[in-house]
Amino acid sequence: MNEQIASIQTAALELIAAASDERSLDGARIAVLGKKGTLSLAGALIKDIPNEEKAAFGQSLNSARTAITEALEGKQKTLQAIADNAALAGIDLTLPARALHTGSLHPLTLIRDEAIQILRRMGFALADGPEIEDEYHCFDALNTPADHPARNEKDTFYFDSGKLLRTHTSSVQIRTMESSAPPIRIIAPGSAYRRDEIDATHLSVFNQLEGLFVDTDVTLPDLKGTLEYFLREMFGTSTEVRFRPHFFPFTEPSFEIDVKLQVKGQAPRWIEVAGCGMVDPAVFGSINATRKDKALDPEKVTGFAFGMGLDRLAMIRWGIKDIRLLIENDIRFLAQFA
Ligand code: DAH
Repeated sequence: MNEQIASIQTAALELIAAASDERSLDGARIAVLGKKGTLSLAGALIKDIPNEEKAAFGQSLNSARTAITEALEGKQKTLQAIADNAALAGIDLTLPARALHTGSLHPLTLIRDEAIQILRRMGFALADGPEIEDEYHCFDALNTPADHPARNEKDTFYFDSGKLLRTHTSSVQIRTMESSAPPIRIIAPGSAYRRDEIDATHLSVFNQLEGLFVDTDVTLPDLKGTLEYFLREMFGTSTEVRFRPHFFPFTEPSFEIDVKLQVKGQAPRWIEVAGCGMVDPAVFGSINATRKDKALDPEKVTGFAFGMGLDRLAMIRWGIKDIRLLIENDIRFLAQFA
């Protein structure tokens, strides 16, 4: 090997061996193989070398370059291994992994989805309506007179425009009957708003699930059968259900539905879960008057409707004593549903 190149190689290998980190190794690479590096400059001399020596010189150059490149790569691997070991020092790979806390569905979501599933199996389709409503859809079309207490400013959130936050999901009944013709079989879960004092059983924002079934010969037994079946699917086949006569402006007759709650160690008690009834012909009548097809003629169609409190259902299902737990997002409460 050409002597000059041999000494460049020796010096380069020493430089590489001495490099203690990636930076100094990079410095060595540039000092030897960079544009102005020792080996590069030596290579440039090839043009001044007599022709018959060029081949030998070239060979020396190549073998020096190969040796140096290999040394650089070897040192690179060694430094990487040292860095890896340092990073792992103090880490015990035999320790069990940390638990991954994934989220879970909120109890209200769980109960709503379950209610939807049961009712969809019975042929009810999902419907929707706005939470900011007008008085017509929330009250007038539901046969609720102007002096009804629910319309009072003390009970209802009104906007300056005269619109309001819907006080119940029953407004979706009207919107559905305006836009579709019988047979109608819908459910509408959603929020409702009232200016209630907040306590263990009342919130000013709560959740309902409305239902409406309209066809040519829907009867009271259909209503009873549907809701009893629903509540037994929800709370178990031996659940006791009671229909109590009540008054709602938009149904006649009307009922409130109670479920008998049996909590271990407590006396059984009836809990109200829903309002329901046969749609009042006056409701059909006023919508029918606005329809060209007269598809809701109160002489021809009948129907039943119901509205239940989803928060109530959740409280019964899991024995939740205070409704406020449902909105406080306390992780200790929510983690129980994971
Ligand atoms: N909207 C009533 C409420 O919020 C509940 C209700 C009662 C809904 C009777 C209905 C019904 O559809 O038929 O108290």
